[in-house]
Amino acid sequence: MLAFSRLCTLVTFAALVSGAVVVRQNEIVPPASQGAPAVEVSVPEEGRTTDSGAIVEAAQSVDQKETPGVDELPNQPPPETLPTVVDGRRTGRRTTRRTRTRGSGGGRGGSGGPRNRPRAVEDYVQIFAGTGTGPTDRDASIHGTAYLTYTLVNNATYNVEACLDFCSSVSRCVFANLYYEFNNYGLDFEASEQSNLKCAVYADVHTAAEKTNFGNQQSYPPPAPLIHIQQSGGWALRDLVEPNVPEGYEYVFGPIDFANNAAGYMGFAFLSTYDVDACAHECNQRGADAVGGSCKFFNIWRAVVDGNPTTYTCSMYFQTTDESTATNGGQGSLEVTYSRGYRRINYVIDGGFEGYQDCSDFCFTTSYANWVGTSPPGGTLDATIFHFQPYARTGTGAALLGSATGVDNLQGTMSPAAALNTVAGRQYKIEFYQSSAFSGPTLEAGSRIDVLWNGNLVLELRPGFTQWERHSVDVTAVGGDTLAFYGGAAPAWSFIDDVSAYLL
Ligand SMILES: *[C@@H]1O[C@H](CO)[C@@H](O)[C@H](O)[C@H]1NC(C)=O
Repeated sequence: MLAFSRLCTLVTFAALVSGAVVVRQNEIVPPASQGAPAVEVSVPEEGRTTDSGAIVEAAQSVDQKETPGVDELPNQPPPETLPTVVDGRRTGRRTTRRTRTRGSGGGRGGSGGPRNRPRAVEDYVQIFAGTGTGPTDRDASIHGTAYLTYTLVNNATYNVEACLDFCSSVSRCVFANLYYEFNNYGLDFEASEQSNLKCAVYADVHTAAEKTNFGNQQSYPPPAPLIHIQQSGGWALRDLVEPNVPEGYEYVFGPIDFANNAAGYMGFAFLSTYDVDACAHECNQRGADAVGGSCKFFNIWRAVVDGNPTTYTCSMYFQTTDESTATNGGQGSLEVTYSRGYRRINYVIDGGFEGYQDCSDFCFTTSYANWVGTSPPGGTLDATIFHFQPYARTGTGAALLGSATGVDNLQGTMSPAAALNTVAGRQYKIEFYQSSAFSGPTLEAGSRIDVLWNGNLVLELRPGFTQWERHSVDVTAVGGDTLAFYGGAAPAWSFIDDVSAYLL
């Protein structure tokens, strides 16, 4: 089939080919005549699917649960979200919080950071109540994930309003736990607030099942009684805050109760809170996969183990996907909740040259809606786009540098048809794949590609004979930037495919 169609094309292009001196001498059939590459190009693998077993195993053993410490200072700014586990290994990174040293007195820390939007007490709903304030009543505070900070509120009354106001002032707070802590020496004598009414705030909602901190620490010198807790109530935001889409990403799906199970899996991190920006950061800084390149998609979800929030999973992928591949609802005692998917924006439109579909099998052009190829004066077809699956790394489209008919050895230029929708001052990673294998090792020795960013040379490749290989270069944008690939020297042709520019 292939041989037959090649024969027909050969006849069609007979006139052109006869003029290609170099090509004729070497008996190479040029790309314009549908020549076969000297080396069969291997199709890249899809990559592995999500290793949910490893995620479940790590989630069973990770401990991200906290309660305010006995001597922890109030009003500290909430910590940054940290990765606690990366690819199954503990990072050893834990939030450090300042504690009271005896005799130093209390101190006021920084503010809670910016608010998402103004909130009122009516925006909260009570999740559970305390168990009473009688002399023998005992209760427990929440020991749970995503603890942010705490404050001491005036204990003249059980001051729910002041506590919810505090939550509203703390970025990412969605839940508050208000309780009395008795027999804490620091609260009774050293804190300037002169209150034992603690308001602990969290970036996740907890239930009465997680009231497991009964105190029982010795704060006063013995034989004084141990710390005990009373009247521990919990309030959550009525509408959980919809996270902002991270810069450089698009929102794809969620929140649903299924985690992504697609191919192109690169690994996972557990985060200390449900933080889409922190997950985007993990994706951006993850090293490129040998086959699939940069991280292009992430799935963030909350792991609930035995009914309680346990960790926040950030899974990363080098292939983009959608809700149809989110099929993992959990395993055993682990449930998937609040699963959302985000796609990394490729600022190069149609970087795979797939928009060129002018034929069903084999055709080529110097330009179409998304890309433009130009030849230097006197050059012929020195930069072209092909629709032909055997020339493409993925799909059916690829760009060619070097005269498609082989009639000259001049360099052509391939550029996106429009300037990139980039933002001045931001850094982008340009990534693409190059193959200079068409004519075999000898004739491809002189292959050459220059990458130009706003006309400036940012990457110079002299790859020789190379099968599809990933290349990347980081650039700074001025806004509305232009990208160009300049090169080829037939018969040292270069194919280019899967071009991308990602915000770093
Ligand atoms: C308020 O807190 C202070 C400091 O711990 C304590 O001495 C006092 O007894 C508390 N008052 C009430 C009404 O619980």
